[in-house]
Amino acid sequence: MSKNFDVVVIGGGPGGYVAAIRAAQLGLSTACIDEWKNAKGGPAPGGTCTNVGCIPSKALLQSSEYFDHANHAFVEHGIDIKDVSLNLKKMLGRKDTVVKQNNDGILYLFKKNKVTFFHGRGSFVKSETDGHEIKIVGTVEESITAKHVIVATGSSPRALPNVDFDEKLVLSNTGALAMTDVPKRLGLIGAGVIGLEMGSVWRRLGSDVTILEALPAFLGAVDEAVAKEAHKQFTKQGLVINLGVKIGAITSGKSEVTVNYTDDKGTAQKAIFDKLIVSIGRVPNTVGLNADGVGLQLDERGFVAVDADCKTSLPNVWAVGDVVRGPMLAHKAEEEGVAVAERIAGQHGHVNFNTIPWVIYTSPEIAWVGKTEQQLKSENVAYKSGSFPFMANGRARALGDTTGFVKFLADAKTDEILGVHIIGPMASELIAEAVVAMEFRASSEDIARICHAHPSLSESVKEAALAVDGRSLNF
Ligand code: FAD
Ligand code: NAI
Repeated sequence: MSKNFDVVVIGGGPGGYVAAIRAAQLGLSTACIDEWKNAKGGPAPGGTCTNVGCIPSKALLQSSEYFDHANHAFVEHGIDIKDVSLNLKKMLGRKDTVVKQNNDGILYLFKKNKVTFFHGRGSFVKSETDGHEIKIVGTVEESITAKHVIVATGSSPRALPNVDFDEKLVLSNTGALAMTDVPKRLGLIGAGVIGLEMGSVWRRLGSDVTILEALPAFLGAVDEAVAKEAHKQFTKQGLVINLGVKIGAITSGKSEVTVNYTDDKGTAQKAIFDKLIVSIGRVPNTVGLNADGVGLQLDERGFVAVDADCKTSLPNVWAVGDVVRGPMLAHKAEEEGVAVAERIAGQHGHVNFNTIPWVIYTSPEIAWVGKTEQQLKSENVAYKSGSFPFMANGRARALGDTTGFVKFLADAKTDEILGVHIIGPMASELIAEAVVAMEFRASSEDIARICHAHPSLSESVKEAALAVDGRSLNF
């Protein structure tokens, strides 16, 4: 006999598992289906984010940064370490442990919230106004029915045409997080978020890193002042970043990959790498859902088509996260998941796309929320700006990390904060204050008048807000 639920979520990444928990909290009988397998074939919920994305990349970024500090930064603090050596096997093992803790945490949360978990692939069999039938193919094969379905199937790495990921020489994010030796010559195609984070990890561990990027501008979506500083810092660290290239033929030999490309001057070039990471964006996962069979509409780019409330073309079928339009970020997926669960329960869930923060976990970290200066210019918005360098912050000096700055952009008339851009230590944590401020539609003066602990990096946020009015106290 078929099991019947109020809500069935297909996909157990940050969009899906959070939607399932919220739906269950609201009293709805809920199931979540996820097909991700760990190395032993068991369930590994958490999706891309937990298994081959946010969590393992941040674990390796942290470990490689400690290694870099031990090699280069501790000496300035009067700590002399001799014979620093890398135990890559242990570093990767620690990363895998962190991933497993997160997988297990989600299974525990499902139990605690009474979410029924199915390990397998879910696909639509029937979708009708009064209910949906979903087939699960996995450890066991069964059919379940639901009043509402939330599609949260996420995304996969985009491959270059005719260059498949073999995860040995040509790597996606999965292989990039699992190299068992440090490649001497590491190539990356795409200077986006993954290219910069993974390039940083392996450079710190000893690779010569070359990044090939198609666009002529570096980090085009980032505020120009921040992108300029980031380019300066990454280049100083040793990342070779070639912009405006056109990738040609890529051929894999036994133990190396040859990339032919045209540089920004139109000259043909050839680069040979021991490993090549391709990080040129991601594509939505819709294969296997039987979207066509039930008439679930996709948009022209292959994402599940949704309206502003994440409603799809089918009644009571919703979709959230990477499989729909908008930034491919775990916290955006989570917000949509919660909002949809609340809408199903008759509440008014809401996601504010203007206050979704972005973070790039390089060193220095880059974080921002709201509009960039170039966006405000192109939209003809009159604005004021204020910046404060970490060089003038006591805590940053004590830390020994004074790179970068905080930059505020505020409405010229009302002083409402329109964007905050940070490059520097702990930018990922500092940005939260700006998100809160913008969510409450605060002015830069509101931040400038709030007492910030001394000495703290957060004083730089206050000082940048003061700078909007030309009255920084410490710079
Ligand atoms: P996913 O996490 O992709 O989860 C979808 C799940 O659905 C998967 O488990 C998949 O196996 C499963 N699934 C698919 N089809 C089916 C089916 N038919 N039946 C059953 N299960 C199915 N974002 C951040 O915000 N911060 C970061 O620091 C960050 N770092 C990243 C680093 C890397 C290397 C990568 C690749 C991504 C990173 N991201 C980061 C992006 C983030 O991982 C995604 O935005 C997020 O995982 C999207 O969540 P989701 O739930 O929509 O999809
Ligand atoms: P991305 O969109 O960030 O960057 C892709 C880059 O590749 C772009 O600069 C693009 O111009 C370039 N590119 C595209 N085609 C190319 C080609 N043929 N030749 C050369 N360059 C080419 O995508 P990325 O880095 O793959 O990451 C995917 C997504 O995952 C990100 O957009 C982000 O949403 C998410 N992510 C988030 C992280 C975070 O929040 N810290 C970390 C890592 C990923």
